[in-house]
Amino acid sequence: MDRIIILDFGSQTTQLIARRIRELGVFCEIFPGESVITKNLLKDTKGIIMSGSPFSVYEKGAPEPHGSVYSTGLPVLGICYGFQRMTVSNNGKVNASTTKEYGRAAVKILSGSELFHDIPDGFISWMSHGDSLDDLGDGFVLSAVSENHPAAAININMNFYGLQFHPEVSHCDFGTEILANFVFRICKSDKSWNMNIFMDHISEEIRIKAGDNKVLLLISGGVDSSVVAGILLKVLPPENIYLMYIDTGLMRKNETDEIKIYLKSLGAENIQIVDASGIFLNKLKGISDPEKKREIIGDLFIKIQEEELPEGLSDNYFLAQGTLYTDLIESGKGVGGKAKVIKSHHNVRSPMVEAKRNAGLIIEPLDKLFKDEVRQLGLTLGIDRRIISRHPFPGPGLAVRIIGEITLEKLSILKEADALFIDELKKRELYNEIWQAFCVLLPVKSVGVTGDNREYGYVLALRAIKSVDGMTADVYPFTTSDLLEISSVITNKISEIGRVVYDITSKPPATIEWE
Ligand code: XMP
Repeated sequence: MDRIIILDFGSQTTQLIARRIRELGVFCEIFPGESVITKNLLKDTKGIIMSGSPFSVYEKGAPEPHGSVYSTGLPVLGICYGFQRMTVSNNGKVNASTTKEYGRAAVKILSGSELFHDIPDGFISWMSHGDSLDDLGDGFVLSAVSENHPAAAININMNFYGLQFHPEVSHCDFGTEILANFVFRICKSDKSWNMNIFMDHISEEIRIKAGDNKVLLLISGGVDSSVVAGILLKVLPPENIYLMYIDTGLMRKNETDEIKIYLKSLGAENIQIVDASGIFLNKLKGISDPEKKREIIGDLFIKIQEEELPEGLSDNYFLAQGTLYTDLIESGKGVGGKAKVIKSHHNVRSPMVEAKRNAGLIIEPLDKLFKDEVRQLGLTLGIDRRIISRHPFPGPGLAVRIIGEITLEKLSILKEADALFIDELKKRELYNEIWQAFCVLLPVKSVGVTGDNREYGYVLALRAIKSVDGMTADVYPFTTSDLLEISSVITNKISEIGRVVYDITSKPPATIEWE
């Protein structure tokens, strides 16, 4: 199987590059940016891509590719930092620029580089850089420019290609076509990658890793852990798989009952349901800090799981999790370990999970996939479409949707409001058009009037976004009448809520969740 190697220098979009390449039907793998490119590593490799980075090339501690990258003879494509690093390694010069470029920028194509085959001159790219190339370096020729900066360059002798913009980002017009030009026209890769092949690959990996050992999977009822359950039950003997569902009390309305039905339908042999809602609420009393909430919940999950360990589970059992690649990158655990921490996801951040990970006793078959790829995989496995199309739900549950301290009263208000919102979306056939929708209960009250009375009620924020992978998100453009009607349904049915607002912030700059 032909392969493209991606060297990760810590960019938030490294995995997007990988996804785009896989979408093109070509297998690719991500390696730390500093990896030595050995003969072994080069097996079946058709080209190398160097990612962007939160660092500037001139910064202390900035990651550097190993010299071997430049002597393979294979085509190398540098993107943003990767481009600048490649030219600097060849005597180019990069400096902080006074004219920064963030967002959309038109690109003028200067030469007939294969990268721009069939790409229209003046296409709109996506830029995100504050540094500029002042000198291209030995042998490089400028092949495209944006208003203030070199946008692309090539060094034909060395087989090096560089792009200042990010073709992997969906906002970059013709980005996929440019990557396809690199992968097919320049690297001459074959299309030989799909979800069935990925399933074969991870099945083999899990079989070897788990051997005859027992595996415990914490089920949340969401898409990720459901797909992991499906994979495990397909790959390992069912008697070795233990499914445990911990009811934290922070789940959506009726979720626990729905999960019980789903688990039964899976045909698993060992299922355990633990009601720990009282313990979670108790531990979260008085806690407002979002990172603290995540830490408490993450640790409690593991603690309860250890206390409630099903009989028959050996000491060195494996812990399986539905960790996604996005969880890893946003927690600063991208492959190269150079990404900056945006938000700690509980299944990454918890010291206890970390201990299992360090002991090599963790199975995370989805840790290279994005949400939409997990859905594809789930469908390939034959998992119920209703489970697969559920909106993503964060591990810490409603705890990160009650801003500030969590109380039983707030939890019950939020559960009701969330159920009403989702129900309205389903009635309007909008649920499947929206990537994720939920309510957030704010720690403020506002004045209202009902009949002749003054009321002092909670403020509820609605959030609904469109996204492909949760890395970026656009606000869902409801019609005004939908918003007005949904707001009325909520305020009419939940007397404690005095005001409903709609969050109209995309990601970036906001994250999807409020905490
Ligand atoms: P953010 O808020 O980071 O969300 O833009 C991106 C996606 O991840 C989900 N999310 C989490 N999932 N544990 C999880 O398992 C977490 O701590 C967590 N925080 C956010 C969020 O719902 C969205 O789908």
